[in-house]
Amino acid sequence: MLIAPSLLSADFANLQRDVEMLNQSACDWLHLDVMDGVFVPNISFGFPVMEAMARYARKPLDVHLMVVQPEKFVERVAALGAKVMNVHAEACTHLHRVIQQIKAAGMQAGVTLNPHTPLCTVEEVVEDLDVVMLMGVNPGFGGQRFIVNTLDKTRRLRELLAKKNSRALIEIDGGVNRETAPLLRDAGADVLVAGSAVFGAACPEDEIAYLKNL
Ligand code: DX5
Ligand code: ZN
Repeated sequence: MLIAPSLLSADFANLQRDVEMLNQSACDWLHLDVMDGVFVPNISFGFPVMEAMARYARKPLDVHLMVVQPEKFVERVAALGAKVMNVHAEACTHLHRVIQQIKAAGMQAGVTLNPHTPLCTVEEVVEDLDVVMLMGVNPGFGGQRFIVNTLDKTRRLRELLAKKNSRALIEIDGGVNRETAPLLRDAGADVLVAGSAVFGAACPEDEIAYLKNL
């Protein structure tokens, strides 16, 4: 499994230090959570902060846009050098078009589903996707309790991807920790995002290695 620590739980007064720590760790991607206070009831950070983090990051960036009209930001996310751009299906009226825009900009296309959003929302586009990300919590905050239905949803997504011959990775965001990570692995997850589990640990690097070696 790939591990993508979320910088949402980092120390914002020491972002360079935390990015350097992740560079040294066994993690695979850096997960950057952008919130606009409209799509989700919180505001996190935007492009100036991500540009600063990107200057030090030596791991691929996985940018998760929790904003309305994410298509407005495809070029700016690409300019960060991001590997993956994740947009919410609920935020895109023309989801197919946004996916093509992300790929045309040279990035991998990810579509994220809120806990209540059914898998059929992405059924017609999964062949075009590099990542399908399932929220394990309602987006907006770190440190929330994992919604258990996400396990069954992950299993059903694995079946859908097989049926459609899609090679998309299954990424899970929210509520990932030592207890839920093995269950998610068994359900078919490929990428686990972890914020509070990593940055709340006594030693974040050890926690990343623990999750990675499950
Ligand atoms: C939630 C964000 C997550 C968040 C996860 O809206 O998208 O990436 O950082 O935090 P934890 O791992 O603490 O649930
Ligand atoms: Zn996220």
